Amino acid sequence: MTHPTLLSLFIGFVASWLAYRVYLARALQWKAKRQGCQPARRYKHMDPIFGLDDFLKVGRAFTKNQRLNQLQQRHDTYGSTYETLSFGSSCINSIVPDNVRTVWSKNATDWGIQPLRLPTMHPFCGTGFITTDGEEWKRSHDLLKPSFHRSNISDFTTLETHFQIILQQIPEDGSKFNLQPWIIKLYLDMNTHFLFGEPIGMLSGSAPAHADGFLDAFQAGFNGCGMRFALGPLSFLMPTSGWLKACRKVHDFADIYVDRALEYRQKQKGAGDHNTRTQRTLLYNMALQTDNRTVLRDQIIQGMMASTDTTASLISMVVWNLARHADILSQLRAEIQSIGTRSLDFDRLGRMKLLQNVITETLRLYPVFPQNNRVALRDTILPTGGGSTGTYPIFAPAGTVFGTAFSTLHRDKQIWGADAELFRPSRWENGFQPPPFTFMPFGGGLRQCLAQQKATMETSYIVARLLQEFEDIKSEDDRMYKGQFALTAKNANGCWISVTPTSSAEAGLP
Ligand code: HEM
Ligand SMILES: *[C@@H]1O[C@H](CO)[C@@H](O)[C@H](O)[C@H]1NC(C)=O
Ligand SMILES: *[C@@H]1O[C@H](CO)[C@@H](O)[C@H](O)[C@H]1NC(C)=O
Ligand SMILES: *[C@@H]1O[C@H](CO)[C@@H](O)[C@H](O)[C@H]1NC(C)=O
Repeated sequence: MTHPTLLSLFIGFVASWLAYRVYLARALQWKAKRQGCQPARRYKHMDPIFGLDDFLKVGRAFTKNQRLNQLQQRHDTYGSTYETLSFGSSCINSIVPDNVRTVWSKNATDWGIQPLRLPTMHPFCGTGFITTDGEEWKRSHDLLKPSFHRSNISDFTTLETHFQIILQQIPEDGSKFNLQPWIIKLYLDMNTHFLFGEPIGMLSGSAPAHADGFLDAFQAGFNGCGMRFALGPLSFLMPTSGWLKACRKVHDFADIYVDRALEYRQKQKGAGDHNTRTQRTLLYNMALQTDNRTVLRDQIIQGMMASTDTTASLISMVVWNLARHADILSQLRAEIQSIGTRSLDFDRLGRMKLLQNVITETLRLYPVFPQNNRVALRDTILPTGGGSTGTYPIFAPAGTVFGTAFSTLHRDKQIWGADAELFRPSRWENGFQPPPFTFMPFGGGLRQCLAQQKATMETSYIVARLLQEFEDIKSEDDRMYKGQFALTAKNANGCWISVTPTSSAEAGLP
């Protein structure tokens, strides 16, 4: 073939592709018009075709720990629903409860996550509750669910053992320290204990040899997913050899535990010896239900993804808030002292109203998952947010991404009143319930967090124990919260405090 022939073939191909795209866009517009839809207000892109300017701005905001502020500012400027372009496809950003309901409620079958997440994340964590929809998701969900039953999460013995290690390190002479990294280490131990059956000794500095490099590999694997996610259709530009190596390292680590769990399964089948310690770990529980190694490995890695920097971030922010509110701290101390030397169990902690309200209020202002997305699985309609008045339905063709900034929704003055920005646990008194789909720190609908009770009860336990051990907790940092946001958010400034030990006569027993 001669060059001119190739060139005309190429031009012909590009032209028909463009014509096809224009036809598709038109067809969708007609369909949308017929249904009374109007487009949402459009973010002012410098690149109105692919929206690459926004890709760069969002990236910069993430690296500078400004993403949460950026989400807030955009809603301040564009209202509660606006559209952005991500590599040419449409993203609807909305914090209107009717839209949130349409996308997140239990019967919202038009919306899912699989096309967004599975292709990008598969080499790291395979198929599981984080990466699939429908039947496949349901199978994972059913496999995990029993492990989060109260009977499997209400024993605080391991948590107390680890808390004791932190206690030994806290300076008692009133000098300042950062609590956050210790709580994060504690949770690396707690999570690996719950998921794999063994704490990896982060806090005590006694990690087993096979754990060497695991956490770095896990972080690299996780970050690689985030990178591919952000690059979207350009993700082929990311070199993958380092990432795939990290993925393999994580798989090797998980496989060691999968093999142990399968051995346990064999023993169970044979002798029926019921070991209550292992019964509470997620992997052993799952191994009783399936012997598929890939399934077990994928679920356990996804479990690690769902739990990393979650409860730890929450505990750190609860203490951060308490250290700044002496009045609330002293009321809370009274509530905790009222149980005297009786043990801090599930029921007693759950009945401590102020403690629960402090945790809820922390989750409102500093949600651990500040933003979450869904994607339209087929052509569908959002009930509101379109047109110049922002009240018309919006047509969302298949592939449209819907994002909700929960950190912004949780501070909406129309919902929470003029003091929405204030930390005020008393707003939750007398069983106050905000309207549905306005407060979703644990998500909503079918995919709602399975660990909600586990996370809030463990937070309750640690906070109560800190208040038993320390008569006073003071903030040693007057900087504002700075959200370090990847999948979850924590305070980039940590939690700098100083403490005064309780005189031993008053100390409650664990
Ligand atoms: C303060 C702590 C936590 C918060 C705020 C939180 C929040 C969330 C949210 C918002 C979702 C929904 C994700 C989505 O819709 O895409 C979710 C799902 C989930 N979380 Fe959590 N989480 C926390 C701790 C944990 C922990 C410690 C674990 C495990 C040990 C865990 C396990 C899960 C699981 C398994 C799901 C998926 C449920 C399903 O799809 O069936 N979470 N979580
Ligand atoms: C789900 O059901 C609720 C209550 O019946 C309804 O109001 C809502 O519109 C439904 N949502 C979807 C997406 O079908
Ligand atoms: C705790 O987990 C095990 C294993 O999945 C399960 O058999 C048991 O039923 C769970 N406890 C409850 C009460 O659900
Ligand atoms: C294990 O499960 C995966 C995913 O569901 C499936 O593709 C594979 O064939 C299964 N392997 C075995 C040995 O059953």
